Amino acid sequence: MADSLLSFPPEVAPEDWDTILHAAGNPEQYGALRESPLARIYSPLINVSDLGRPFLFGQLGQSLDGRIATPTGKSHFINSLEAIRHLHRLRALADAVIVGVGTAIADDPQLTVRHVPGPNPARVIIDPAGRLPATARCLRDDGARRIVLQGKVVPRPPGIEALTLPADGGRIEPAAIIDAVGGLGFRRILVEGGADTVSRFLDAQLLDRLHLLVAPLIIGSGPIGISLSVIDGLADALRPRHAIYRFDDGDLLIDCDFSHVEGAP
Ligand SMILES: NC(=O)c1ccc[n+]([C@@H]2O[C@H](COP(=O)([O-])OP(=O)(O)OC[C@H]3O[C@@H](n4cnc5c(N)ncnc54)[C@H](OP(=O)(O)O)[C@@H]3O)[C@@H](O)[C@H]2O)c1
Repeated sequence: MADSLLSFPPEVAPEDWDTILHAAGNPEQYGALRESPLARIYSPLINVSDLGRPFLFGQLGQSLDGRIATPTGKSHFINSLEAIRHLHRLRALADAVIVGVGTAIADDPQLTVRHVPGPNPARVIIDPAGRLPATARCLRDDGARRIVLQGKVVPRPPGIEALTLPADGGRIEPAAIIDAVGGLGFRRILVEGGADTVSRFLDAQLLDRLHLLVAPLIIGSGPIGISLSVIDGLADALRPRHAIYRFDDGDLLIDCDFSHVEGAP
């Protein structure tokens, strides 16, 4: 359970972030993180080398009423600048970032790290039916690996790694996705969105952690964020351990930890 509302460090000291980035690339440096005020938030995402499987962390930005866009698809920008910086830190700590093709088409994101120092992760797009245009910005060659997971063989631009996975009625098992991405050597994987993709991984009990970024606004209509299989009683609801932080500019970070939830990875 949350102890209280915590303040996100208002000024992220560059040396503290450097320490975290350095530790991400050097697991033996993990001990050094305990001194940093950012460690409580970011160190659980780093020290994952002995799990024997990839560590998955998801993120989702939403309004107070759990919406991720207006009915006409306007979503820029629900979250505040500090929350967006936090998202870029999550990208920088990930070996690979996964998005569904819905996001790749709707937002045409670059999926690079621009708001903070740090390396760009590999980009993985789940595109079972080959809807992703060759001109998508996430496919641009900037040195990062670009990977498409598809349910059938589809021609892709040069330089794109395409993996064809079994798809049952267009659905690729989330566990098969993680086996494939883990098999490429990635250990820390950020599931960045959209809502459908994050929900599929959460429903399959594959997320170790979920960072919900809640903006203090009520949209009142439009698509919602998390949507899982129907349950009957509240005893079946997920009750992650969590900590809540408030960014200086108003958004909340709810850091959900599923490691103790029955059936969790
Ligand atoms: N608030 C946030 O943090 C955030 C983050 C990212 C995006 N967004 C917003 O979210 C919206 C898009 O999200 P969305 O939920 O509509 O779509 P999405 O999650 O980006 O993509 C969903 C699509 O990805 C494919 N997919 C994902 N997992 C799959 C699996 N296991 N097996 C087979 N196919 C799979 C399917 O493609 P097919 O349809 O081809 O079968 C599915 O329809 C946009 O409006 C974007 O702005 C918000």
